[in-house]
Amino acid sequence: MESVVIQQPNNLVIEQRELPEPRKGDVRVRVKLAGICGSDSHIYRGHNPFAKYPRVIGHEVFGVIDKVGEGVDTRRIGERVALDPVISCGECYPCSIGKPNVCTSLVVLGVHRDGGFSEYVTAPARNAYVIPETIPDRHAVMVEPFTIAANVTGQVEPTENDIALIYGAGPMGLTTLQALKGVYNVGTVIVADRIEERLAMAKTCGADVILNNSELTLQSWLEEKGIKPTLIVDAACHPAILQEAIGLASPAARIVLMGFSSDPCVITQQGITGKELSIFSSRLNAHKFPTVIEWMEKGFIDPEKLITHQFDYYHITDALEIFEKDQRQCCKVLLTFSA
Ligand code: NAI
Ligand code: MN
Ligand code: ZN
Repeated sequence: MESVVIQQPNNLVIEQRELPEPRKGDVRVRVKLAGICGSDSHIYRGHNPFAKYPRVIGHEVFGVIDKVGEGVDTRRIGERVALDPVISCGECYPCSIGKPNVCTSLVVLGVHRDGGFSEYVTAPARNAYVIPETIPDRHAVMVEPFTIAANVTGQVEPTENDIALIYGAGPMGLTTLQALKGVYNVGTVIVADRIEERLAMAKTCGADVILNNSELTLQSWLEEKGIKPTLIVDAACHPAILQEAIGLASPAARIVLMGFSSDPCVITQQGITGKELSIFSSRLNAHKFPTVIEWMEKGFIDPEKLITHQFDYYHITDALEIFEKDQRQCCKVLLTFSA
């Protein structure tokens, strides 16, 4: 089989590898589609501190089970499945309280273990979620990015009365936007970004207000309208955003962080405690595949609106280049591994 391997940072090859045998409890999946995510690019460029090389990247994976390991029901062969990249121990403290996404021995497919940019991949059987026939392949591969949004929104229980502000109209901001509007019917969702084309996508995805905060400050716009957001999601992830969000937030608001920056940021306790703000963080997803599959079945979200490109996997270098360099035209890029 062929696999996309990052041998060392900035060194990508399509390598001939032996077909993997599914181990005990695992399934082997013949990959049909995989999605490119910022973290794939980070591993490629050597910007992910957790990555070990050589590594087959890819954690947004859809395909068909073609073989099962010991202990797995052989009737699963032939199932159309999306793979949850979060592989956890099931026993540690975070696992015991329903947060396998921060398992003390967390393994992420495509980061700590070879992932889905490959003709075949193996994963634990319990990580392979059956996709109903009503969900097409192109949407099935989008389950994982929407689980990030499901995890974010799951932390804060949005309501129709919320006035939400999302920083960033990249794939993460847009999945969160679709969840807030389509699933929770949040009354007002404001999306801020610096790229007009991305703001236009936010409009298509249901934003009530789009704001280009390279042209104006959010503070001046919100103050003029007398709006204090009750829910703020940072899907842009610059370390300076938290303090700004604390200032803009309504008393009793919730703020959700998604960023992994290791740069320090300056925040004031008074800003938080004075308004009794709740600050949440969200990493990957905690058992959110069934939730998102249900959202898709019910038509609450529309993954098609985020897909801008699809390439055959042997054009991976071009695909990654477009993904990295063309944020104006590019949102979700898919790779085809088999028909
Ligand atoms: P992206 O880079 O495609 O999108 C970020 C967007 O934020 C861009 O459109 C950019 O123009 C905009 N932006 C940057 N600074 C801004 C500012 N000050 N105000 C408003 N907009 C601003 O990235 P993507 O894929 O959407 O991911 C967003 C972030 O979420 C990344 O930092 C990524 O590391 C993180 N992430 C976190 C996950 C988690 O589970 N916690 C999962 C996936 C991504
Ligand atoms: Mn991803
Ligand atoms: Zn664990």
